[in-house]
Amino acid sequence: MTSDEARKKVIFALDVNGVAEIDRYAGMLSGKVGMFKVGKELFTSCGPEAVKAVQRHGGQVFLDLKYHDIPNTVAKAMLEASRLGVQLANLHALGGGEMMETAASAVRKEFGDQRPRLLAVTILTSSTEETLRGVGIEHPVQEMVVRLAKLAKDSGMDGVVASPLEIELIRAVCGPDFLVVTPGVRPSFASVDDQKRIMTPAEAVGAGADYLVIGRPIAKADDPAAAADLIAAEIIAGCP
Ligand code: C5P
Repeated sequence: MTSDEARKKVIFALDVNGVAEIDRYAGMLSGKVGMFKVGKELFTSCGPEAVKAVQRHGGQVFLDLKYHDIPNTVAKAMLEASRLGVQLANLHALGGGEMMETAASAVRKEFGDQRPRLLAVTILTSSTEETLRGVGIEHPVQEMVVRLAKLAKDSGMDGVVASPLEIELIRAVCGPDFLVVTPGVRPSFASVDDQKRIMTPAEAVGAGADYLVIGRPIAKADDPAAAADLIAAEIIAGCP
């Protein structure tokens, strides 16, 4: 794997709340990582300006707003995300097959091959069996992850966001072309923080992840650009 291919797999989680911070990180990391993840905190504080600020630095964007609403509303929100020119956007698979199908076909119809790749969140990694039982779901977490990944694929989604530990199960059911984006990744040089079930970048790529979402190991490093270099080097070293 080349250095460029390894860097393209890394999505930096822009867990900040202002344009000045976006400029700081995007300035340091453009060309060092493949994409920047704009999530609910940043989008709620800055709106579409957050996406545009990353784009001004030449960065690509994963818009992580995890839509879950009636099919028409989610489809319209996805069309707006597509108009912003983001590369990845997501919704909750628990919104159901009709919601995913309506969103995927609206985006395909208007944007074709220029569309963002649409991802489904299966079961949040913060959810346990107890969480599921509390909302009336009596199935084990892993069974639900696989079931929702299959439903997402059958509904026209391009991939899922999943724990690194679920990659193999998802690949077995959804095949090699379905995108798997995984947080919960910790390079060997970084602290674990509050992440629990983790893999290293090389392990996650070896298990079949297409993209790795990594935040604090880069953001909290003394030299974030050097941390991104080390992560790319770890990915390359771990690949045959
Ligand atoms: O700093 P860290 O590398 O833990 O950041 C991971 C990013 O991925 C955060 O933005 C976090 O919200 C997100 N995420 C996660 N686990 C999930 C889904 C998203 O850590 N299951």
